Amino acid sequence: MQAVGRQWRSGRRGKYAFWPSMVRGSYHLSIFLGDFPLIDQILQGDCREVLKQFPDNCIDLTVTSPPYDNLRKYHGYTFDFEPIAKELFRTTKPGGVVVWVVGDATIKGSETGTSFKQALYFKEIGFNLHDTMIYSKISYPPLTHNRYEQSFEYMFVFSKGCPKTFNPLLISCDTAGTKRSRYKSNKEVGSAIRNDNRVDIINETKYKANVWAMHPNNTHHGHPAIFPEQLAADHILSWSNPGDLILDPMCGSGTTCKMAKLNNRHFIGIEISQEYCQITNKRLAAIPTTLAAYCQ
Ligand SMILES: C[S@@+](CC[C@H](N)C(=O)[O-])C[C@H]1O[C@@H](n2cnc3c(N)ncnc32)[C@H](O)[C@@H]1O
Repeated sequence: MQAVGRQWRSGRRGKYAFWPSMVRGSYHLSIFLGDFPLIDQILQGDCREVLKQFPDNCIDLTVTSPPYDNLRKYHGYTFDFEPIAKELFRTTKPGGVVVWVVGDATIKGSETGTSFKQALYFKEIGFNLHDTMIYSKISYPPLTHNRYEQSFEYMFVFSKGCPKTFNPLLISCDTAGTKRSRYKSNKEVGSAIRNDNRVDIINETKYKANVWAMHPNNTHHGHPAIFPEQLAADHILSWSNPGDLILDPMCGSGTTCKMAKLNNRHFIGIEISQEYCQITNKRLAAIPTTLAAYCQ
């Protein structure tokens, strides 16, 4: 299906553009005001095309999960990884972060390694691979094949330069209040060495580790591959501040957008399937926007 250019109309609040959907050739709505899309909206279309309408350096945080290795059948998508990765780099603010949640299919007995290839490509185009995190699924379906059950996905955390925001999630320390020898980092060998005669008192809390165990989302909302609300919320809290702009360019049923809204961030969701856009809009409409959300 050929893409046609934006079509402009004037409305009460300014100039709007209608972006022709490339899914079925019909005209679905992406809303623009002036040259740029409105925020706090779900834009239907191919993110590769829709992102081209965004200015440089405008997104604080992206939390997304691409369709990987054709593992699931969505409604008529085309997924062209490399141009999308480049658009994400261009539109991410300096210090902004992209969280890319992905796994591999096993084809003819061998894992594809697509997740690693994508991670290396993100580095090639300029992102910093800030952290390789794991989403560990507390429950998973038994497939009983000739390997251990698949129970995790990668959560690659890329940053454009050094992350500008890090609000670490804390957990309590089992050994809080006890003493331990102080260690100092030995930068040359990248490890910690004991600093004789000095002791630390263990704090009440410490940073959470980078393996996050969570129950997969059991409420499907009519979408086959929803990630847990907690996963989206924890990344949003970690890598952004209230009022920041959060993107999910392949937003499916809108989990990232919902959690952004609940945590007083702005959001833009892009999704190629009209049906999934409707699911997202329904989930978003169920969250009342109260004045309290904007009080400091
Ligand atoms: C893994 S799902 C995302 C699920 C989402 N994280 C959630 O919690 O609901 C990937 C989504 O990407 C959409 N998609 C695939 N290619 C796309 C493209 N080029 N542009 C926009 N969306 C696309 C699919 O329709 C699918 O809904």
